[in-house]
Amino acid sequence: MMKRKDFIKTCGCALVSAPVWLSLLQSCTSYYYASYSQNENKLIVPLSEFGSKNNKNRDFVLLDSTISSYPICIFKTGEDNYTASLMQCTHKGCELNIEGDMFSCPCHGSEFTKTGDVIEGPAIDPLKTFKTTIDNHNIYVHIS
Ligand code: FES
Repeated sequence: MMKRKDFIKTCGCALVSAPVWLSLLQSCTSYYYASYSQNENKLIVPLSEFGSKNNKNRDFVLLDSTISSYPICIFKTGEDNYTASLMQCTHKGCELNIEGDMFSCPCHGSEFTKTGDVIEGPAIDPLKTFKTTIDNHNIYVHIS
């Protein structure tokens, strides 16, 4: 049988480590990197990368592009609307995380909307974004 003192000690450790576990869980989040092709200044992402009738729909996908060491995140913002942002914090350049439908910076806490606008500093400038267009099959991310 556990003594009261041991019980309190065990609970205390669990409470103290809860934020650590949450932090670890968040840092272990894996993002889906979409397949894409490139044609001159356009990255071409099949719409099916956001899901199909048989697959779970995704709110966003990442591209491991050659134009930067940072991924590009494409968020679905409406039925036929997508936004593409470089996941580089405009404060001091840390790679951003995605939390729900926004970007957060693990370095100093800046937050950005899924369209790249600043919600919370210290960052002042919005994220670098890319024009997107779509047709019946693909999303086109215009990289220049
Ligand atoms: S580098 Fe992102 S908030 Fe400082």
